[in-house]
Amino acid sequence: MKHATVTKAVLPVAGLGTRFLPATKAQPKEMLPIIDKPIVQYMVEDMVRAGIKDIIFVTSNGKRALEDHFDRNFELEYRLEQKGMTKELEEIAEIGKLANFAFVRQPKPLGDGHAVLQALPFIDDDEAVMIMFADDLVVDIAPQLVAAYKAHQRPILSALEVPRESLSRYGIMSGTPAGDGLFEVNGWVEKPKPKDAPSNLAWPGPAILTPEILECLKTTAPGPDGEIRLANAYQQHFKNGGTMLASIITTPRFDCGNKLEYVKAQIHFGLQRKEFKKDLIAFMKTMVQ
Ligand code: UTP
Repeated sequence: MKHATVTKAVLPVAGLGTRFLPATKAQPKEMLPIIDKPIVQYMVEDMVRAGIKDIIFVTSNGKRALEDHFDRNFELEYRLEQKGMTKELEEIAEIGKLANFAFVRQPKPLGDGHAVLQALPFIDDDEAVMIMFADDLVVDIAPQLVAAYKAHQRPILSALEVPRESLSRYGIMSGTPAGDGLFEVNGWVEKPKPKDAPSNLAWPGPAILTPEILECLKTTAPGPDGEIRLANAYQQHFKNGGTMLASIITTPRFDCGNKLEYVKAQIHFGLQRKEFKKDLIAFMKTMVQ
């Protein structure tokens, strides 16, 4: 029987993070903190709010810190208990209980699609799965995608409205508006000139992929650079006459694999913290005078 909702997520985290060197030389970019929490924890908490129970990370060597973060740390817990740091103790112990975490390895960085393929043995044949790139932080996106999936039982992409001058940096969706913040997608154009772009909607990573899309992924050939990309599986699906729904993002989004966007994320989440907001605004005012 088809699953009526989505309870599993796959997070490919096996990329090299070359845009964020030197910070990512010896640590995963997903573990870079925004204030006091790693980027990936914001994402995991968002997915858990949406009903995700099982999270499969696709890792590579050098990503050990990620596994440790979602595991218990008995020595730390013992020390915090001894020091009477109850609040910190609870906070630390909760991280490993957010969901069931599993880790599979991608032996070589052969593309985001290839990374997702490594997790497919753990997904039922009739099951849809949530995908997120753990450096691309879209606030409150998981509940939005799950709501769209429950209502329509179709593959759901997130859709980012891109300014005209940046359209040629993205894969752009073609199709028609479908009301309620949704867009019916029937094709995809890679990096179009603004005048040729079929819409202003790009896909930044969050998605719910159904078995038919995952089947396309299994037969997607590597591109000229040897990488298997999810976007190519979508294109195959459209060629087969398939369509997808896109749910337009209305919340802030930060590509934290990009240095400037990461700084903006720090400011955004800093301003969300009651204890920092006043000082942060006062500081920023002194910087722009
Ligand atoms: P990105 O291209 O944004 O990440 O891939 P990257 O390769 O780590 O970063 P740069 O461009 O070198 O700075 C999107 C997502 O897919 C994962 C990445 O970890 C990221 O979360 N990915 C990419 C894999 O898991 N495996 C791959 O082979 C490629």
